[in-house]
Amino acid sequence: MRCTICKKPAVIKLRHANLKLCPEHLVARVEKVVAETIKKFRMFTPEERVLVAVSGGKDSLALWEILTKLGYRADGVYLDLGIAGYSERSREFSEAFAAARGLALRVVRVEGELGAGIDGLLRFARGKPCSLCGTVKRYLLNRVAYEGGYHVLATGHNLDDEAATLLGNVLRWEEGYLARQYPVLPGEGKLVRRVKPLLFLSEREVAAYCIISGIEYIYEECPHAVGARSIALKHVLNELEDRYPGTKLGFIRGFLKVRGRFEPPEPVELRDCPVCGMPTAAEGPCRFCRLKERVSHGAPA
Ligand code: FES
Ligand code: ZN
Ligand code: ZN
Repeated sequence: MRCTICKKPAVIKLRHANLKLCPEHLVARVEKVVAETIKKFRMFTPEERVLVAVSGGKDSLALWEILTKLGYRADGVYLDLGIAGYSERSREFSEAFAAARGLALRVVRVEGELGAGIDGLLRFARGKPCSLCGTVKRYLLNRVAYEGGYHVLATGHNLDDEAATLLGNVLRWEEGYLARQYPVLPGEGKLVRRVKPLLFLSEREVAAYCIISGIEYIYEECPHAVGARSIALKHVLNELEDRYPGTKLGFIRGFLKVRGRFEPPEPVELRDCPVCGMPTAAEGPCRFCRLKERVSHGAPA
């Protein structure tokens, strides 16, 4: 197998893009796709400060590497979720990555902020771990970005993640979510803009990018994700992609064209949480502060 561009030995075949690539051209392609996505969706400018949400996995570390190579001013934030074993290991990968490249990584312990990590929280609150964890992550990442004076928060969601989310939303006809699913969520007040620059890159491309670039990342998935619906949706999409290459990309691209037809949800009025001062749609304390309150009383939901 030869590289479509230079004819040297290829290491990856991308059927959806009709390309076979050598290491050098795979790296070049990945960085080009990200650079174009950032420009196309006006995610941020070189002057703006970017905070990358780093998990120790391939996507977020690749994203941080690419942004740095493209000349953007990107720092990282690692949320230590307090998931036994998994959190320690993923933190080590994140710290080693930052140290080797002289990049600034903030580490925030969920337990320090909330009184309990995700494992501990499961004893107090009902709901699926991933949705609780989602609330905690969204809140803390935004707060860290806002307090650190960052213009934008970047996450490593890739094509596979976004296609699975989209399929999930379509299967339930979640109109509100569909209207909001977009690579850029604008910021406002204390809500920092959020962007997904890896949106058009498949998981395989990102993994290959990491291996070629010498980025060491945690392979294991969060133990709470076992059995999650998102994983089943990814399996289905992978089977379709296998038979019909380009399925995921076509699904996302097509959606971005018709997305405007979905009714955006009524804009909710945000007010400042009386406890922490961060924006919330709730009357009274925000969801994070309510969780914290419950943890402090040791009261199960
Ligand atoms: Fe949050 Fe798994 S990463 S529950
Ligand atoms: Zn080549
Ligand atoms: Zn609050």
